[in-house]
Amino acid sequence: MANDELPSQDLPEEMLRQHAAVSEWAQVLEAAGQLLDQTSGELDQGAIERFFKHNVHDHIQFEEGVVFPAVLGTDPGPAIEALIHELRKEHIAISRTVGALFVALRGAHRADEAQRRALSREVKRLVEALLLHAAKEDDQLLPYLTEHQQALVAYLRTRPRRR
Ligand SMILES: [Fe+2]
Ligand SMILES: [Fe+2]
Repeated sequence: MANDELPSQDLPEEMLRQHAAVSEWAQVLEAAGQLLDQTSGELDQGAIERFFKHNVHDHIQFEEGVVFPAVLGTDPGPAIEALIHELRKEHIAISRTVGALFVALRGAHRADEAQRRALSREVKRLVEALLLHAAKEDDQLLPYLTEHQQALVAYLRTRPRRR
């Protein structure tokens, strides 16, 4: 099932579930970032890339493809519209950082100690940015999703299918 076709009746629950996954993995990544400080730089790059693909890229697509259009489709008012605008800008920044991190991780085996430390700091900064972003969504957007769940579902049922 494509991410923009998720069952819409559980929008708040689905968002919370995906954010919980981000928080769990953030701890693993933080550990990976620390590991990179002291060792030869070997780390499970595949696992890190899978994490970002599933929990960040796919999650952002879910929000951009399902959650945000549904919210905007229910005339949420200027405060929520401004919040969505801000969250979209953060998605772009996060996606760019993830792309740059992938490139850096692929060269990690050739990196010297200073470069590995810099990479480690980059992983930590990204994890912090992700957690702040998810917390902002949990605090400021989830209450709207919960309160307007029926209107959101009605909107998603009637909107034209994306191809
Ligand atoms: Fe987001
Ligand atoms: Fe999110």
